[in-house]
Amino acid sequence: TIPGLVDGFGRRITYVRLSVTDRCDLRCRYCMSERMQFLPKSELMTLEELAELAAILVDRGVRRIRLTGGEPLVRRNILWLVETIGHRLGDGLDEITMTTNATQLAPIAQRLRECGVRRINISLDSLNEDRFRAITRRGDLRQVLGGIAAARRAGLAVKINMVALKDINEDEIEAMVAWCGEQGFGLTLIETMPLGDVEGDRTDQYLPLDAVKRRLQERYSLIPSLHRTGGPARYFDVVETGGRIGFITPMTNNFCDGCNRIRITATGTIYGCLGHDQRVELRDAMRSGARDAVHRALDAVMAAKPRRHDFRIDAARPAVARHMSVTGG
Ligand code: GTP
Ligand code: 5AD
Ligand code: SF4
Repeated sequence: TIPGLVDGFGRRITYVRLSVTDRCDLRCRYCMSERMQFLPKSELMTLEELAELAAILVDRGVRRIRLTGGEPLVRRNILWLVETIGHRLGDGLDEITMTTNATQLAPIAQRLRECGVRRINISLDSLNEDRFRAITRRGDLRQVLGGIAAARRAGLAVKINMVALKDINEDEIEAMVAWCGEQGFGLTLIETMPLGDVEGDRTDQYLPLDAVKRRLQERYSLIPSLHRTGGPARYFDVVETGGRIGFITPMTNNFCDGCNRIRITATGTIYGCLGHDQRVELRDAMRSGARDAVHRALDAVMAAKPRRHDFRIDAARPAVARHMSVTGG
């Protein structure tokens, strides 16, 4: 049998984030620069290569695959990839999911469900049209809400990701908790992480979530939940809304001991950690057709996967130069 993926600290890697494009139709201020340079499409792995890679990963014990971007739905024919990976559900694979900004979700939500997707994470940092536009620089809130509604109609479980931003959307967190409760959506609050240069100073945007949690506890009873996705979020049940809220706290509360994941960029670079440059190139091995070389590349990532990220919001430079959109988180 083929050995599973275990890193140098004994952590079992059963979850892969597969970025299918570095492009996005939005330019969220904490994520990208207005003048983002995207990769030439010729450098991207083809969908066939991504599908073959996914199959190899499942052979190595990966049970969950999350498609990310940039924005995964701007990749042409993405449904073919979802469908193809979905064929492994029940055959080693437990879950195929996606993290999306939902601008282009409405027409395909039902198809995703038919391909085996059961839940989806959606980035939504504000419920106010003008503010949503200001944060994303070009997003149309109504279009995104349409995508979210379509996901719900299609029977997809929805979790909203809200990056908590000081002075920008911090006054909307209670409203988002209430809205998600009404809609039956999960909500995850995220601390902004220093990845790549963006216009302006990230320290101005940073909002520590321990303080937010204390504030929420004045209004809501938060009961620690046993719910786990294997991801970085720690969850609480909200008694008043019947909903669930997660906190992703890379800055105030490190979660790397339980890390179960690696990430692969759209050009086939594997990163062991979101917060480090440690990486192994996979594309040439994929193109050579030599599966041995692919397995060696995976083993090399396992051997070198860092113990933890070392994000510091007050550091003069970002922890790593690449933007979140290159690895999709
Ligand atoms: P599930 O737990 O499966 O629902 O997904 P998730 O929360 O891991 O994935 P999602 O794509 O919704 O990401 C939410 C946030 O978590 C994003 O800001 C990611 O960058 C961040 N994130 C995901 N994995 C890691 C990780 O390994 N390290 C750090 N520091 N952040 C991560
Ligand atoms: N810090 C934290 N979260 C980020 N995201 C994008 N950039 C950052 C950042 N610098 C979030 C998006 C999306 C998820 C994949 O990552 O809002 O929900
Ligand atoms: Fe696009 Fe997501 Fe980055 Fe916003 S956070 S620019 S939606 S990839």
